[in-house]
Amino acid sequence: VSDNAVFAERLKALSAALAAAPPDRRPLDALLISGLPNIRYLSGFTGSNALLLVAGGSATLLTDPRYTLQAAKQSPFPARIGKGPLVSLAADLVKRRKFKRLGVERNRISFETWAALESALPAGCKMVPVTNAVEDLRMVKSAEETALIRDSVETNSRAFRRAMKGFRAGMRENELAAEIDYQARRAGAESPAFETIVAAGERSAFPHARPTGEKIGSKTMLLIDMGSFQAGYASDMTRTLFVGKASKRFKQAYRAVLEAQLAAIDRVRPGVTSGEVDSAARSALTKAGHGAAFVHSTGHGLGLEIHEQPRIGDKGTVALQAGFVITIEPGVYFEGWGGIRIEDTVVVTETGCEVLTPTPKDLVEW
Ligand code: GLY
Ligand code: MN
Ligand code: MN
Repeated sequence: VSDNAVFAERLKALSAALAAAPPDRRPLDALLISGLPNIRYLSGFTGSNALLLVAGGSATLLTDPRYTLQAAKQSPFPARIGKGPLVSLAADLVKRRKFKRLGVERNRISFETWAALESALPAGCKMVPVTNAVEDLRMVKSAEETALIRDSVETNSRAFRRAMKGFRAGMRENELAAEIDYQARRAGAESPAFETIVAAGERSAFPHARPTGEKIGSKTMLLIDMGSFQAGYASDMTRTLFVGKASKRFKQAYRAVLEAQLAAIDRVRPGVTSGEVDSAARSALTKAGHGAAFVHSTGHGLGLEIHEQPRIGDKGTVALQAGFVITIEPGVYFEGWGGIRIEDTVVVTETGCEVLTPTPKDLVEW
């Protein structure tokens, strides 16, 4: 399939979704896309300043002169290049085409931009906040997207293996984090998907610790959470190992987290809700006596962004579908001791799921 056919298909799906469930039961004349990942998804354009006005089965890309060539190359839609604020361009188009009801992405627009757009629009045009219209479509990945995520995940695991080759006790957290980022880039990644987490000992009790200049000791746990973008698509993996001979407490907690992670993976299949997947991990950890130490949700969708719909958390009501790509990442955290998390990326298949992450999960004593 050509890229143009892909974007036409996505635009069609978006129009169908909007026609099926208009926010206040009256159809929209147009939808203004302001979320950059959503613009990329719908048009292929990857620039840093853009709006996409979707109407009547087509779209117009609005951007600035830095991106004239890039817009023509990446996007199949006509582009309008503006020197001033893009909302003025958008308002001009809305006026010219006499749109009366303009959908706006409520979670992808600042208050300031909303207000500027409101004052630039003609008096007869109403702005209608729209929630997750594109994000919901993005939950189901095409075979091509899944292949790109698989590549990204494999690059990430390769970088982990190469970075760990040079790891010795006594290395500093930020040295290992730098080595991971370097190896990821060399292996094909475009950029980190988030700030690489390397946390040893007590610092691993912070689920989102930042690497410090502290040395990684020789009898300590070590948590590494890393991910990168490749061809636009994210990867995300966490491994926790023990430097030296693992303590009994570490072994016991590691087994509990691994069992919870496997229980959640086992639950993943079409029709099961995000809340049920979360509850599989949560009840396994609760049974092991660690329910209170599992302080975050079980996972999240990923794709063009590192965190996407759906969130895999308690009370999650989204029914999984084949083509969703999500992380499964339960963890336990104890102040003054440390934390253990194990995270893989999985794709929902017709009959269950496939774990994309190739890095082994057996307990490692480094
Ligand atoms: N590193 C971010 C996450 O695992 O969600
Ligand atoms: Mn992660
Ligand atoms: Mn994650």
